[in-house]
Amino acid sequence: HKYRPFPFRVSLPDRTWPDKQITAPPAWCSVDLRDGNQALPVPMNVDQKLEFFKLLCDTGFKEIEVGFPSASQIEYDFTRQLIEEHLIPDDVYIQVLTQARPHLIDRTVEAVQGAKKVILHMYVATSVMHRTIVFKRSKEEVKKIAVDGTLYMKSLLPRLSGTEVVYEFSPEAFNMTEPEFALEVCEAVVEAWNPKEVGGKVILNLPATVEGSTPNVYADQIEWFCRNFSRRDEVIISVHTHNDRDTGVAATELALLAGAERVEGTLFGNGERTGNLDIVAVALNMYAEGVDPGLDLSDLPRIRSVYERCTGMTIHPRHPYAGDLVFTAFSGSHQDAIKKAMDLLKTEKKDYWEVPYLPIDPMDIGRSYKAIIRINSQSGKGGVSYILQEEFGLEIPKGMHPEVGKKVNEVSDALVRELSPQEVYEVFEKHFLNL
Ligand code: KIV
Ligand code: ZN
Repeated sequence: HKYRPFPFRVSLPDRTWPDKQITAPPAWCSVDLRDGNQALPVPMNVDQKLEFFKLLCDTGFKEIEVGFPSASQIEYDFTRQLIEEHLIPDDVYIQVLTQARPHLIDRTVEAVQGAKKVILHMYVATSVMHRTIVFKRSKEEVKKIAVDGTLYMKSLLPRLSGTEVVYEFSPEAFNMTEPEFALEVCEAVVEAWNPKEVGGKVILNLPATVEGSTPNVYADQIEWFCRNFSRRDEVIISVHTHNDRDTGVAATELALLAGAERVEGTLFGNGERTGNLDIVAVALNMYAEGVDPGLDLSDLPRIRSVYERCTGMTIHPRHPYAGDLVFTAFSGSHQDAIKKAMDLLKTEKKDYWEVPYLPIDPMDIGRSYKAIIRINSQSGKGGVSYILQEEFGLEIPKGMHPEVGKKVNEVSDALVRELSPQEVYEVFEKHFLNL
């Protein structure tokens, strides 16, 4: 097949986002229990969803999409259970997704009766592909579906009288929609809801449902939308990126620079196909630049273990921040640099983290130093002496480092595998202690 250049670019010669910096966290919304769950080969059962929901609350999420209650009885029952068993903290909004069809909207509103805080999230696909291939509908017809759905949702508000309701609208595949048309639909939806009358703001969630461009193009789409939307102070601009080109994180970060205020994503990027945006990565990227992300990721191994148990997914060893190997150095030059920097951190009181090859202190997210330096045939003297010092309290005289390192490398080379700290010690003991 032939492929064409991405067609939905906006012209934004005076774009401002490249000069900006992220200085405050966005509002985070976890879509693990909906977008993440719908992509699992074996979806979570109710107990797993409950455990996951609790994990999300403990981690500090204040907005959690709990499901698509009109789509299945399980999703409906799960939403009811959260509400009826009072499992939702008072400051947490549960979010529920629906299509713009009256009977589905009815069922969605029924599902959240009695909740304290709710985000009613309606989506309508607006992209050229959806309109021309999937629905075979004109632009006017698609806009009407979005407006009618919004008006119908609004008409049901009296049924949720004791509930704090926020309305969210997603033009699905926003990134593959003509920018002017996406704007037109969103203007019409916000006019139909009329936040000045209802109170609060509307969340306009602008998804990159399937990535189709480099992330700068998405950021331009977001800045263009923010600039041109006429009732900017009545809406919260939210982004929802997927990861088809492995740039979900980049697209979200650039979109935040471009004006987005809210981010939807999942833990470790679980989600359709290559996944949703990995919120952990974006949050810890902020943390590494001195911005408090407002999420408690101080025990990442626990978060990972609940995630793996509930979803049945595993974390790749090189997954940013969470992977087994990401705070590990095998190569000699890296080990040497890390050892020097760590020694300096102990002796000099620095008020910031400054260690080459380690973007953050692994201890800050509950990981240990033990796994940082591992020994194989590529390791150097620095790594070997670090292990002997940290694990066995042995201060090897500097002059001996090259010789000890060489011997350990030889043994690892001969065995064609990594050596454990105990084995490193045994090599040292055999060749240098019992002379
Ligand atoms: O990726 C997407 O567009 C979605 C919408 C339903 C928000 O998940
Ligand atoms: Zn999605």
